[in-house]
Amino acid sequence: MQLAVRLPLLLATLLAFSRGQPHLGHPESSGTNSSHEKVLGTDDDSTNPSMVASNTGFAFRLYQLVAAEFPDKNIFFSPLSISTSLAMLSLGAQGQTQRQIFQGLGLNLTEIPESEMHSSFQHLVNTLNLAKEKMETHMGSTLFLQERMSLLPKFQNDTRAFYQAQLFLANFQDSMGATQLINEHVKKETRGMISDLVGELSTDTVMVLVNFIYLKALWKKPFTVHRTRLQDFYVDEKTTVSVPMMVQSEHHHWYLHDRHLPCSVLRMDYEGDALAFFILPDFGAMQQVEEALTPELLTRWNNLLHKRGYFYKKVELRLPKFSISGSYELDQLLPKLGFTDLFSDKANFSGITNMLNLKMSKSFHKATLDVNEVGTEAAAGSAGSFALKSAPMRPFVLNFNRPFILAIYFNKTQNILFMGKVVDPTEP
Ligand SMILES: *[C@@H]1O[C@H](CO)[C@@H](O)[C@H](O)[C@H]1NC(C)=O
Ligand SMILES: *[C@@H]1O[C@H](CO)[C@@H](O)[C@H](O)[C@H]1NC(C)=O
Ligand SMILES: *[C@@H]1O[C@H](CO)[C@@H](O)[C@H](O)[C@H]1NC(C)=O
Ligand SMILES: *[C@@H]1O[C@H](CO)[C@@H](O)[C@H](O)[C@H]1NC(C)=O
Ligand SMILES: *[C@@H]1O[C@H](CO)[C@@H](O)[C@H](O)[C@H]1NC(C)=O
Repeated sequence: MQLAVRLPLLLATLLAFSRGQPHLGHPESSGTNSSHEKVLGTDDDSTNPSMVASNTGFAFRLYQLVAAEFPDKNIFFSPLSISTSLAMLSLGAQGQTQRQIFQGLGLNLTEIPESEMHSSFQHLVNTLNLAKEKMETHMGSTLFLQERMSLLPKFQNDTRAFYQAQLFLANFQDSMGATQLINEHVKKETRGMISDLVGELSTDTVMVLVNFIYLKALWKKPFTVHRTRLQDFYVDEKTTVSVPMMVQSEHHHWYLHDRHLPCSVLRMDYEGDALAFFILPDFGAMQQVEEALTPELLTRWNNLLHKRGYFYKKVELRLPKFSISGSYELDQLLPKLGFTDLFSDKANFSGITNMLNLKMSKSFHKATLDVNEVGTEAAAGSAGSFALKSAPMRPFVLNFNRPFILAIYFNKTQNILFMGKVVDPTEP
């Protein structure tokens, strides 16, 4: 007897930089007793360098794949949300399927034993959820399980212990009801920022895994709203669009022109522990820069842009105000990164439940980003307070008026939270 069983893995991620002060405090987690305070080892020094390199490597490999699959399109996703979901899923995978997850994530189990790998994700999720000072961020996972189906106790325990996963029962035969349950949960957890994650689920679904992340943060050095002007943005040789360009010229920033790669790199800091890297390839050099992205390169830039005072200079900065979003079917992408069995009949999820033939059908990932002037009201109101007296030299100009890459980085755990490419800022 063949049981047609599906296990869609749904991922929702959202990033919003919104006006005004973020609402601080931890979002409520319904049902589970969130175990932040109980978890030990959440200090910075337990960040495992080998895990950092794997996560960054995975982020860039995925970026490079998406860039190749969707050439000349805007890109935006959360590599951390995807790798966290896959790591969590590996708790229920066995045999070849599990090995492929570890390999695909770039984890070498000789260097990082499996338990250490999960602890490392646990540390990451906890640190991220504890980062409440001046920025608001929340990452979480939820399992929606068909009523009367049971999980193996170890899977249930481990997903909760390491990934703070919440468990909800759903009746997928009532497709509308289940869809509503999931969407409302995600809406609540993301503070209303994602409201329609799931379209329609097939009635033979037995489990849905959702991971979400969002971040609200304010620029440390915000732009002044009234200086934003429409300006040309050169999408490619033939296409020019008009975008609201934010301008600031009174601030110092960390930035460099790479000596080996034709691009400039700007580090813009948020209040709190998030940083944004904006990578601006020279005209026509996008592909060359994309292909060169490696964890080592990011480490080099990060080091230079933290330590060498020479790179901290006054700059006239022009950055488009834009919103982009990305929506990806991971079941189409991940097999190309070595996760070949995951979505096939060969998948072995015998660590999740005793049920035979558990199969993963679909996997979605969504993410959005808004970049705007955002400052605290005080900063926006104090536009006149910096006089022009200290401008003896013409400042350098960094004009993001052509396609660029961005990476939003959580400095505390050294992970790329979000990554993307802006090809056309007028395309949502
Ligand atoms: C959550 O955990 C704390 C500390 O372990 C405990 O005091 C509290 O009663 C728990 N709350 C619930 C709802 O289980
Ligand atoms: C899954 O993998 C385990 C461990 O390798 C093996 O014992 C089990 O038979 C496999 N199950 C299926 C359904 O392939
Ligand atoms: C994993 O790490 C070990 C020890 O550092 C090394 O010998 C081995 O070649 C690595 N394996 C892979 C696949 O990179
Ligand atoms: C799951 O957790 C419960 C309570 O913490 C514990 O008693 C049980 O032994 C655990 N089971 C497994 C399989 O880890
Ligand atoms: C990033 O973290 C490093 C190491 O903890 C710290 O020295 C540095 O000041 C941080 N950078 C920013 C911009 O917060």
